[in-house]
Amino acid sequence: MTPTTPINRPLGDGLVLRSLRDSDDAERVATFNGQIFGPKVAEMSRSLMHHHPATRPEHWLYVEDESRAQIVSSLALIPWQWRYEDVTLKSGEMAIVATDEAYRNRGLIRALAVRHQELLCVGEFDLSHIQGIPYFYRQFGYEYAMPLEPGWHLELRQLPDAPADSAASYHFRPATCDDLPLLMRLYEEAGQSLHIRTVRPAGAWQYLFEHSEGTETQGEFWLLLDAQEQVAGYWRVAHFGFGTGLIVSETSRLSGPAAEALLHWLKAAALERNKPYIRFNLPLTNDLLRVAQGWGAHDSGTYAWQMQLVDVPRLLSRLAPVFERRIAASSLAGLTQRVVISLYRTAYELDIACGRVTAVNALNRCDQADLHLPPLLLAPLLLGYRSRAELNSMYPDVRVRGQSQVLVDVLFPRLESFIYSIY
Ligand SMILES: CC(C)(COP(=O)(O)OP(=O)(O)OC[C@H]1O[C@@H](n2cnc3c(N)ncnc32)[C@H](O)[C@@H]1OP(=O)(O)O)[C@@H](O)C(=O)NCCC(=O)NCCS
Repeated sequence: MTPTTPINRPLGDGLVLRSLRDSDDAERVATFNGQIFGPKVAEMSRSLMHHHPATRPEHWLYVEDESRAQIVSSLALIPWQWRYEDVTLKSGEMAIVATDEAYRNRGLIRALAVRHQELLCVGEFDLSHIQGIPYFYRQFGYEYAMPLEPGWHLELRQLPDAPADSAASYHFRPATCDDLPLLMRLYEEAGQSLHIRTVRPAGAWQYLFEHSEGTETQGEFWLLLDAQEQVAGYWRVAHFGFGTGLIVSETSRLSGPAAEALLHWLKAAALERNKPYIRFNLPLTNDLLRVAQGWGAHDSGTYAWQMQLVDVPRLLSRLAPVFERRIAASSLAGLTQRVVISLYRTAYELDIACGRVTAVNALNRCDQADLHLPPLLLAPLLLGYRSRAELNSMYPDVRVRGQSQVLVDVLFPRLESFIYSIY
C-alpha cells in the first residue's frame, strides 16, 4: 500500500473521520465491512485495497469511535474510467457504504459523503456512481440514471436439448491469464454496441483473474472454440448475485450458432450446479441475450445505477465533441446558438457557433432558458437513460422553450449503456 497523507477530521462526541493510514487500518475496515455485509465483502475489501490498481488508501474512509477504538462507519471511493461514445470520463464509485447499527441516523454517512465529494472534486472526477439501496443517495445528489443488474430469466425447460451433432461444432474451455490479450480485444469489440461503457484496463483484467476469488465478485471466464480451434467468443459466469439462477454477467459478440451452442452449455452447467434458470445480466444489445429472448427469456426487472454529476460545466465541455457530432448528423447541422440549460438554482450555457461548441459557462439563476430541469434530472437526461419527453411526462417542471425542443432532443438522445465491472 503506497503511503499517502491520511485525513483526520474530528466530528465531535469522540468520533473522528479518517482515511487508511496503514495495513492495520485496511484490515480493520475489511473486518468492519464483513460484520455488516458478510465474509465475501470483507474479502473483497481486502483484495481491492491490496491488489486493485485503481484504488488508493486516501479513498478508503471510515469513522472511528476513539473511546472504544472501533470503526463505526465506512465507505470507499473506487475510481473507474468510462467511455461516453469516444470521450473518456472519470467516475468515482461510492462503494461499500455502512454504519454500525448502534451509530445509525447520526449523520455519519452524511459526513463521509462530504469527504467523498471533496475527493471527487480534487481528483477532477466527472461522475460518481453507486449501486445503492433505494432512495437514500438522493440526499447526496444521486439520481437513477443507468441500467443496472438486468434480470432476464430463461427457464431451463424453455430451451430444447442440444441437437445430436452440435457437440462437434463448438467446444469450451476456461480462459486463463494467457488469454488476456484476446479477451481484451473481444471486450473492446463488444463495447462498440454501447454508447456508454466501462474502460477495463489490463490491470483490472488481471485483478479479475487473480484477486477476485473468495470475494463477492468472483466469477469464471470461459472461451468458446469452433471446430477449427478458432476462438468464437467468451463469456463470464458470476458466482454470486441476485437470484438463484446461473448468472451470465458478460459475453463477447457471438454469431447465432455460437450463441445457440453457448445456451446449451449454460443449460448443462445450470443443471449440474442445481440452478433453476439462467439469468442474463447483460445489456439489451448483447448477442446472447437476443438469442435467449428468441427462446422466451423474460424480463424480471432491472435496477439502476444512481449517478451524480460532479462538475456540470466541465462534463459538458468534455462532451462537446459528442454534442457537435449529434448536431452535425441532424437537421440542425451548422447551428449557431447560445443554449441555456437551467437547473432552477443554477444554469449553464453552451455557446454553439457553426455547429461547434465554443464555450461552456456556469450562470446564475436564469429564468430565460431553452430547457429547465429539476437539478437531479440532468444526469438521466445527459446519460441517455430518459428522454426529455419521458422526463417531461413525469415532471411538469421539466420545461422546454417551444423553438428549442428539436435542439434539446438532438443534444440528448436515449442511449444504450452498460457498465461491466472492473472488480
Ligand atoms: C444505510 C446506512 C448506510 C445509513 O447510515 P447512517 O450513518 O445511518 O446514515 P446517516 O445518518 O448519515 O443518514 C443521512 C440521513 O439519511 C437518513 N437515513 C438513514 N438511513 C436511511 C435510509 N435507509 N433511508 C432513508 N434515509 C435514511 C438519516 O436519518 C439522515 O437524515 P438527516 O440527515 O435528515 O438527519 C446504514 O443504515 C447501514 O449501514 N445499513 C446497512 C447496510 C446498507 O444497507 N448499506 C448501504 C448499501 S448501498
